[in-house]
Amino acid sequence: MASKPTLGFCVTGSFCTFEPVFQQMEALRDTYEILPIFSFNAAALDTRFGKAADHLKRVEEICGRKVLCTLADVEPIGPKKMTDILVVAPCTGNTLAKLANSITDTPVTLAVKSHLRGKKPVVIAVSTNDALSGSAKNIGHLQNFKHFYFVPYRQDQPDAKPTSLVADFTLLRETLYFAARGEQLQPMVRKI
Ligand SMILES: Cc1cc2nc3c(=O)[nH]c(=O)nc-3n(C[C@H](O)[C@H](O)[C@H](O)COP(=O)(O)O)c2cc1C
Repeated sequence: MASKPTLGFCVTGSFCTFEPVFQQMEALRDTYEILPIFSFNAAALDTRFGKAADHLKRVEEICGRKVLCTLADVEPIGPKKMTDILVVAPCTGNTLAKLANSITDTPVTLAVKSHLRGKKPVVIAVSTNDALSGSAKNIGHLQNFKHFYFVPYRQDQPDAKPTSLVADFTLLRETLYFAARGEQLQPMVRKI
């Protein structure tokens, strides 16, 4: 049997979406070897959505390997061809801004850069309250970049949070399937 492709699974600090994201990570184990990567903040912050150590433990159990949490951990991703496809889920406004400007000072942003050395696909699952304001230019920028694909998203609570967007994490598997073939899953914007 052919070995599974390796999915680099990058997690950033949108803590309220960890639960649905980790559920998808678990489901994707049947298709991919998963290489988990956390941003410094995702790996360190205890919040009202749980303790950092518990999140790391859970993901290490799902993936059967240690989470990559440092710049030195992720630097070999490109040179050693450690990933076939990579996702950032959830992707914060902060990480979107860094990716759009080639800033690589976190394990997640450096993992993306290292992975892209091999011209392989990167999938972004946004979750940020300023997606339709401050982060809009960064989302637009990345949607215009080669090798970038987006998990379809929708506004969440447009009355309470009029500039917020969140990816439909249940579409992650399908988005990865299309991205691996060089295509963007459509429609990109989903109904509420
Ligand atoms: C409880 C909590 C929830 C947060 N939720 C979000 C979020 O959903 N989206 C977002 O863009 N930032 C969110 N943030 C802010 C980010 O964690 C912060 O901007 C951080 O610098 C992100 O770093 P990273 O992108 O390297 O993980 C949240 C912060 C906290 C403490």
